[in-house]
Amino acid sequence: FQPKLLAGRRVLITAGPTFEPIDPVRGITNHSSGKMGFALARAARDAGAAVTLVAGPVHLATPRGVKRIDVQSAQQMFDEVLPLAAQHEIFVATAAVADWRPASAQPHKIKKDGSGAPPSLAMTENPDILAAVAKLADKPFCVGFAAESEDLLKHGRAKLVRKGVPLIVGNIGPATFGLDHNALLLIDAGGEREIPHNDKLSLARELVREIAERFEKKKQR
Ligand code: C5P
Repeated sequence: FQPKLLAGRRVLITAGPTFEPIDPVRGITNHSSGKMGFALARAARDAGAAVTLVAGPVHLATPRGVKRIDVQSAQQMFDEVLPLAAQHEIFVATAAVADWRPASAQPHKIKKDGSGAPPSLAMTENPDILAAVAKLADKPFCVGFAAESEDLLKHGRAKLVRKGVPLIVGNIGPATFGLDHNALLLIDAGGEREIPHNDKLSLARELVREIAERFEKKKQR
């Protein structure tokens, strides 16, 4: 009998994009279907974990047995995740969180004023959810994702340090958005390892193995 890799573990996952309102009918968002995060939720559940999934606006069915919390904005995602983080042993941030939001969402639809001049949009920075969780005294084992348009390894390494996490997973794109396949680059203090091109559920199962192994090693220290 082989015990499941994450039997009895609690895993928290963010997935999908965030949506930052400009006014009641417009907003700013990122490209993300949520497929990788939802595949990870499934794979972690299959590995025996109790999974909480905090999802931005996506069109995906909730994997059976997974507790799902829906949010829109980065601030809402932050407000849901932070209090939950310490109750989980592993946190995987797959969400494509908007780095900035309009400084103040207008209560009514912005109208053209006839002058032809576009309105200007003041932006403010969103909280970094992953970095904040990684700073908690009783933090879970944290895993971040990186989607870059260039220099994945360099930016991934920088992220490892800046966010203070033991593992960054790079999307070896270029354009994986909405697709069912991808390849991943695992970046940690020891080096890099590629998980070759595959469907997202297979990638998620492999990633769960990698995370479980690192989590156990860390606990034994
Ligand atoms: O900073 P950047 O967006 O490049 O980092 C990506 C990683 O950080 C992802 O794991 C993403 O989910 C997480 N992140 C976050 N909160 C933010 C921005 C990114 O949790 N505000």
